[in-house]
Amino acid sequence: MRLGGAVAFHDLAPRLESFRASVLEGLSRPRKSVPCRFLYDERGSDLFEAICETPEYYPTRAELGILAERAGEIAALIGRDAKLIEFGSGAGRKVKLLLHALNRPRAYVGIDVSREILLRATDDLSLDFPELSVAAICADFLAPIELPYEVTRGPGRGIAFFPGSSIGNFTPTEAQRFLANCRRMVGAGGVMLVGVDLKKDQARLDAAYNDAAGITAAFTLNLLERMNRELDAVFVIERFAHHAKYDPAVGRVAIHIRSLVEQTVRVAGRSFRFAAGEGIHTEDSWKYTVGDFQNLARDAGYRALACWTDAEQLFSVHYLTTDGGRPTTD
Ligand code: AVI
Repeated sequence: MRLGGAVAFHDLAPRLESFRASVLEGLSRPRKSVPCRFLYDERGSDLFEAICETPEYYPTRAELGILAERAGEIAALIGRDAKLIEFGSGAGRKVKLLLHALNRPRAYVGIDVSREILLRATDDLSLDFPELSVAAICADFLAPIELPYEVTRGPGRGIAFFPGSSIGNFTPTEAQRFLANCRRMVGAGGVMLVGVDLKKDQARLDAAYNDAAGITAAFTLNLLERMNRELDAVFVIERFAHHAKYDPAVGRVAIHIRSLVEQTVRVAGRSFRFAAGEGIHTEDSWKYTVGDFQNLARDAGYRALACWTDAEQLFSVHYLTTDGGRPTTD
């Protein structure tokens, strides 16, 4: 890893104990589940990067295309001296597109739950943009976060940037809460620039979450391997399978690890019984129409100033301002 040395690092990450506690609590529920943030250890983060390269997983390419085409327009709306706050900072290519287009950006802070990805991404950015003040905060960003002084001081707008449709991994209620927290963070005159995956036909979505090369399956099942590595668990991976399905009535891809047989597994000194076919819920990926999402943003106190989509209407990028009011475009 190259170390620029110019990144201010703030570590608010959930500790090992919180992984252990969350797993034990989640596996004790009648419907077993583990929060999706635990999918992103170093290996999980690398596998997610590999998912983004699969032919079936269109969101990354679609969003990059929109940002590349609209970067000038977005930069003109933002104006000079922007202070960028990126949530989930693994997506270096996207933020670089923006930073190159912006007029004299002042500061960048990356917030991510994965320490390794965060340090890699912010270090890389500080080398590419030596004039930029760069900070990294390792944290779970569903809770409100205190921004470091280097980001809040001086003139220029606060721009929250949340690409990748990671907002779809929150429930709509959590998404609204997250948007409201961001609104307070960027303050008056601030902006939220957010990528949102769109509702579409089931076959396309099912394929995106069940790629033929099995990378998404490896990403999901890495959660069991992580439990084996970090929690003294003894999952036999071959006795489990990745399962992802889009429910068009709900607008959500639900992802589970399914037990292929009836079995009992030891995790952190405790035993958990799995019926054949029983699942551990690992992730939901909610999909929106442009109008659905603008309504949600308005309920969180934003004005939907602009929205851009790709030609196939697969993905959307929303420009929301904190000055409230009704959406003006769709
Ligand atoms: C990170 N997030 C937006 C991805 C998604 O599409 O919901 C996570 C993912 N899980 C499996 N494939 C992609």
